[in-house]
Amino acid sequence: MYTSNALNPQSPFARYIFDLGVVAVWIMIVIFCAVTGMVIYSMFRYRWKEDEADPHQLAGNKTVEMIWTAIPFLIVILLFMLTARTMSKADPPAPGDPDLLVIGHQFWWEARYPHSGAIVANEIHIPAGKPISVELRSEDVLHEFWVPELARKMTNVPGKSNHIWIQADKVGTYLGVCTEFCGIQHAWMRFLIVAEDPAQFAQWEQAQLQVPPAPTTEAAIKGWKLFQRESCINCHSIAGTLGNTAHVGPDLTHIASRRQLGGGIIENTPANLRAWIQNPQTIKPGVLMPNYYFTPDELNQLEAYFETLK
Ligand code: CUA
Repeated sequence: MYTSNALNPQSPFARYIFDLGVVAVWIMIVIFCAVTGMVIYSMFRYRWKEDEADPHQLAGNKTVEMIWTAIPFLIVILLFMLTARTMSKADPPAPGDPDLLVIGHQFWWEARYPHSGAIVANEIHIPAGKPISVELRSEDVLHEFWVPELARKMTNVPGKSNHIWIQADKVGTYLGVCTEFCGIQHAWMRFLIVAEDPAQFAQWEQAQLQVPPAPTTEAAIKGWKLFQRESCINCHSIAGTLGNTAHVGPDLTHIASRRQLGGGIIENTPANLRAWIQNPQTIKPGVLMPNYYFTPDELNQLEAYFETLK
């Protein structure tokens, strides 16, 4: 199970935001202590006592009023300046040419690497230690891309491009989530950012560009034909098959190399993959992939074929 923690920044961009949060919390602690302290002091110092005249009543005092207007005003100005500085550091302008294009779909993420042409789904690899410029789009409704340890969050808007920077200082796997309610399976629209050594990343990116070798076992060959004969190819693309241009559902060219299925709802094991093809609706109710009522033989063939797609 992958987890994420917004209080554990792992990139310069996330750290700027976290540091601003720490400063803001300290300012609030100081204000809280000052106000509470004065209230408690007044409760004791000015409590009602018998035989004591009412304290002197102040109906207005320009100096005092100017002081208690000026102090909050200065605090707001200070927070505004710190925020503006953080915004410029945590969210520098977008370059014309992004490293990564991430498209939100109900309920999964498509990622394209424009420089190489690689297309993947839900598991996005990046080189560690390098700022990555990400263009965000949506295919249907509003989604929101958030990797709490690596960056701020940003909305994927249909018909519009947004931009965000991500970076992972260290090699590791970081959980990302959709944080804009986008439909019944919004909660299972998760993804992984896998940060690797630049050399390892380059190798991974090259592997994603390879057309998988044609299947050789009888079951896998039947599965390959079944995939092309059924309506699978109307939504899913596999390089080297007929009509491999559809991206309504995740690209399956290298599905067997992914860690998870269904936007993170299950691990990618042969048994889980089979259960998913059998009826995705029992695993992720409301997912846009229907139950095709495959026979057990057909399930074996599809499973055998998909397991060749490393
Ligand atoms: Cu996509 Cu919530």
